[in-house]
Amino acid sequence: MESNSNTHLSFLLIIITTILSSLIDSAIACDMFKGNWVLDRSYPLYNESTCPFLEKEFNCINNGRPDRWYLKYRWQPHGCHLSRFDGQNFLEKLRGKTIMFVGDSLSRNQWLSMLCMIHSSVPTANYAVNISLIQDMTTYTFTDYKLKVTYHHNLYLVDTVKRRFGRVLNLDTVTAGKYWLGVDYLVFNTWHWWNRRGASQPFDYIQDGGRIYKDIDRVVAFGKAIVTWGRWVDDNVVKNKTKVFFQGISPSHYNGTDWGEPKAKSCSGQKLPLLTSTYPGASLPALATLKKSLKTVKKPVTLLDITNLSQLRKDGHPSAYGLGALDCSHWCLAGVPDTWNVLLYNLMF
Ligand SMILES: *[C@@H]1O[C@H](CO)[C@@H](O)[C@H](O)[C@H]1NC(C)=O
Ligand SMILES: *[C@@H]1O[C@H](CO)[C@@H](O)[C@H](O)[C@H]1NC(C)=O
Ligand SMILES: *[C@@H]1O[C@H](CO)[C@@H](O)[C@H](O)[C@H]1NC(C)=O
Ligand SMILES: *[C@@H]1O[C@H](CO)[C@@H](O)[C@H](O)[C@H]1NC(C)=O
Ligand SMILES: *[C@@H]1O[C@H](CO)[C@@H](O)[C@H](O)[C@H]1NC(C)=O
Repeated sequence: MESNSNTHLSFLLIIITTILSSLIDSAIACDMFKGNWVLDRSYPLYNESTCPFLEKEFNCINNGRPDRWYLKYRWQPHGCHLSRFDGQNFLEKLRGKTIMFVGDSLSRNQWLSMLCMIHSSVPTANYAVNISLIQDMTTYTFTDYKLKVTYHHNLYLVDTVKRRFGRVLNLDTVTAGKYWLGVDYLVFNTWHWWNRRGASQPFDYIQDGGRIYKDIDRVVAFGKAIVTWGRWVDDNVVKNKTKVFFQGISPSHYNGTDWGEPKAKSCSGQKLPLLTSTYPGASLPALATLKKSLKTVKKPVTLLDITNLSQLRKDGHPSAYGLGALDCSHWCLAGVPDTWNVLLYNLMF
């Protein structure tokens, strides 16, 4: 009798252990960047009209965008569920901490999204702003929690310097790193300016390994800059103190052939996302380069691998409802960057 119940008990234990370990396996195995967009009536995460931080560039509704379906999609990973963003929990957990977004206007896109998300879950939270023109940094401090949420505008992460003969993009140095020291959460991004040419290209030469070139392949240059940046991470980031993220490559939508709609000349008039899990268009060369360069970094860096899921969101850009000119690079807010922040939230703690 007794040995019989022991057998039952150990049998039960085996079953429980098996279930638990398969649960743990699936949690570890879940790639939250693989999934698809699903309609969710509870979306968007905030109403743009009540977000005091939002800038005209991203406030598509205020700029006259008439359609609304693009606001109603939630990212659903295949293997797991994402925790919903809880601003109260966020503020409590990050009491006294600093989170800094460093990069071009796509970082500003994500930074403003995060501010709107925090504000909409805790509208009563007091805040103060500090704008530093010299450092090109803006910080909102949620004063009751001493949480700082900073944007450091920085196009290339590596330096651009003025020399006698012209402006040099220096792939070898990261002077701005002095502003990133001691920050608790760093979220970096750069890419969109690497392809600038002509009048809007803010450099005349590229320096690489001490040598000056008139130009070099931009994807290659980008890859080298990420390696240099990675050396800064290895030399300066205190592992216990700072968590480092890289935002990944935010895709643009200027050619409908990419998403199987050759007649579409841009994102203009796109009202719905692709509901598939894979994008028909080519994957971006810069993404492969980024992943390769990130492998050279010894300290932990988490890639916020938002490229594929954002590629499916041909409907998410301002088009004519941004600053006026056709914009299929940035994202409306509320919108796609809110999902980037939900993913960040799920990876932060
Ligand atoms: C945002 O709030 C305003 C004012 O309450 C409302 O008219 C509007 O429909 C809301 N927008 C969305 C997208 O829900
Ligand atoms: C504002 O930010 C700058 C740059 O980060 C810093 O030097 C300065 O002390 C800050 N001022 C206040 C009042 O926090
Ligand atoms: C780093 O974290 C570990 C575990 O949390 C802790 O034991 C250790 O004291 C920390 N080291 C420093 C330098 O803070
Ligand atoms: C869009 O991409 C296709 C395929 O790469 C190309 O043939 C076409 O010229 C592109 N259209 C525009 C407007 O650039
Ligand atoms: C993104 O798509 C590419 C193919 O275009 C694929 O190789 C890669 O695994 C995908 N990454 C994620 C995170 O889905």
